[in-house]
Amino acid sequence: MSGSRQRCASCGHELSETDPQLRCPACQGLLEIHHARPTLSGAALRARFDERRSVSRGALASGVWRFREAVLPTAADAVVTYPEGNPPLLDGPAVARWTGLSQLLLKHEGHNPTGSFKDRGMTVAVTQARRVGAPALACASTGNTGAALAAYASLAGLPALVMVPRGQVALGKLAQTLAYGARTLLVRGNFDECLELAEQARAKLGLYLVNSINPFRIEGQKTIVLELLQQLNWSPPEWIVLPAGNLGNTAAFGKALGEARAWGLITRMPRLAAVQAAGAAPFAASFREGFARRHRVDPHTAATAINIGNPASYERAVRAIRETNGVVTAVSDEEIFEAKAVVDAAGVGCEPASAASVAGVRQLLHSGVIDPGQLVVAVLTGHLLKDPDSVTRYHQAADPRPPGANPPVEIGPTLSDVERELRACGAV
Ligand code: F0G
Repeated sequence: MSGSRQRCASCGHELSETDPQLRCPACQGLLEIHHARPTLSGAALRARFDERRSVSRGALASGVWRFREAVLPTAADAVVTYPEGNPPLLDGPAVARWTGLSQLLLKHEGHNPTGSFKDRGMTVAVTQARRVGAPALACASTGNTGAALAAYASLAGLPALVMVPRGQVALGKLAQTLAYGARTLLVRGNFDECLELAEQARAKLGLYLVNSINPFRIEGQKTIVLELLQQLNWSPPEWIVLPAGNLGNTAAFGKALGEARAWGLITRMPRLAAVQAAGAAPFAASFREGFARRHRVDPHTAATAINIGNPASYERAVRAIRETNGVVTAVSDEEIFEAKAVVDAAGVGCEPASAASVAGVRQLLHSGVIDPGQLVVAVLTGHLLKDPDSVTRYHQAADPRPPGANPPVEIGPTLSDVERELRACGAV
């Protein structure tokens, strides 16, 4: 296939693949990567992707770069890769039962190198940063993008600035960002303000911004969908359900599905369900009005990863929902944490924002949008250990005691105490 172009999603203005501008110079719209249609048939492309599953070293061992024809075809020799991707597609019977489905598959993106799906976008954005000779990298983040940037900037040997809302970042994410060596800025403001600041820093200080408004991030995150389709032998599920915050992932999923169908990788389109936290649900509000207008809110949810009130990829995500006949919904923090306790107790585990997808499945089933017999894949976006405070808080809460709480028990150093606890957990 020949080269890829960057194209403005609003006015169609085109830029070359290596133009470092982040927004359209004509209208300030967001850019998208437009790939030429591969010369291979869908079957031949599937076969090529499938052959690469046996590669164990180098870029093609990555669950992102295995799909390089759909990501960044010209960059495969100089990529900054861990490698990432390849997390499991789990069968979650206990989680399925809780939602009311007969079967629920869980695509666990928390098994990426830094514990979230952000690694998939970051390998591509940092590779592109190196291709265009960027001197320094930056992002605004609720935590995971920052952790991923910190790691990949170190792999690339580039300096990085990470801007996070002070006091609103989960402990594991902050720890990673510090440990991987990024300059970590605790901004006295929320995520939306961090992103505004990061965009100003890009424009005025020449930093290369790797938030999901960067179109190369989207190309990497598309591979969540490509990989799960591959894990299902290219037979699509009825639904793909994901948590939604800044809407980069929703946009990436829509683009992946559109291309997969246009290129003959699949013949049927799954429906997308984007799930927001009720306290940070501007996209769900717009959906309820048929996307008549864009909403902005002052966000408040304990699922800090998706505590976002003015999602940057709004337009791209609207298209993703429309083109997949998708839906957008919102779930309460109580539902999110109950779903998380179920996912955790099943031995799977995830961070709070990830559990929004599972809570969303249950709600959509109860409201009759999803049928109990349909094949549903819920995406778990981050690892349980990202937010350890939320876990101990939940399980030790006393009044009221939350469903599924498993508080620790203090005992004396005696065998009789151990025996009593053994009886209490039903083992004897
Ligand atoms: N789940 C997790 C664990 C996240 O970290 C994020 C976003 C999302 C879901 C939502 O994805 O923004 O593409 O709609 N985290 C960003 C960050 C904002 O800075 O780490 P989205």
